[in-house]
Amino acid sequence: MCENLWMQIRDAIPEDTAAACAVLRRSIAELCEADHRNDPYTLARWLSNKTHENFRAWVAQTDNSVLVAVEDQHILAVGSITDAGTIGLNYVSPDARFQGVSRALLRALETRAAEKGNNRCNLTSTETARRFYLSNGYVENGPPVGGFTTTSGYPMTKALPSLIGKT
Ligand SMILES: CC(C)(COP(=O)(O)OP(=O)(O)OC[C@H]1O[C@@H](n2cnc3c(N)ncnc32)[C@H](O)[C@@H]1OP(=O)(O)O)[C@@H](O)C(=O)NCCC(=O)NCCS
Repeated sequence: MCENLWMQIRDAIPEDTAAACAVLRRSIAELCEADHRNDPYTLARWLSNKTHENFRAWVAQTDNSVLVAVEDQHILAVGSITDAGTIGLNYVSPDARFQGVSRALLRALETRAAEKGNNRCNLTSTETARRFYLSNGYVENGPPVGGFTTTSGYPMTKALPSLIGKT
């Protein structure tokens, strides 16, 4: 668990499901226009697995960590990382954008990856978040990949700082 003066980052619990799914869905719909271009079919496909049932399953999954950033019991952002160090989710509420929430959540996900024995984190970035990841130490490590968005996903990797030199 990670805390600063105004925000806590903790493991998600089943009771977070409704609020967390609302954040995921709003983040995609309202912030990721560069990826879905407001194309209804693309957006619907992207949102299709952001269901209450799936969220509860992701929280229950033993080889996966779902973390939430919380202020005054309101969920500001949702992230996830597998025990193998792959970041799956990293979505901030439109209400909390550009306040350092995703940067803090990313640090927490990386810390969890290191705790699980990984010396790298991997992810596939949206167009929307590409610059954000590059400025947080990630490098692109493969050609853009097709996905369910109208643009490409960008495979990225980062050596976890505390373990550099120990591999
Ligand atoms: C891009 C995104 C992930 C960043 O999250 P955030 O919580 O807003 O970012 P933080 O506040 O932690 O990071 C600060 C970033 O915002 C920038 N920023 C701060 N205030 C800003 C403003 N008023 N206008 C534009 N950019 C601003 C900072 O320069 C910094 O960008 P940089 O890292 O490229 O330099 C988020 O805004 C977003 O759009 N998410 C959509 C979902 C998504 O694509 N998730 C990734 C899935 S792989």
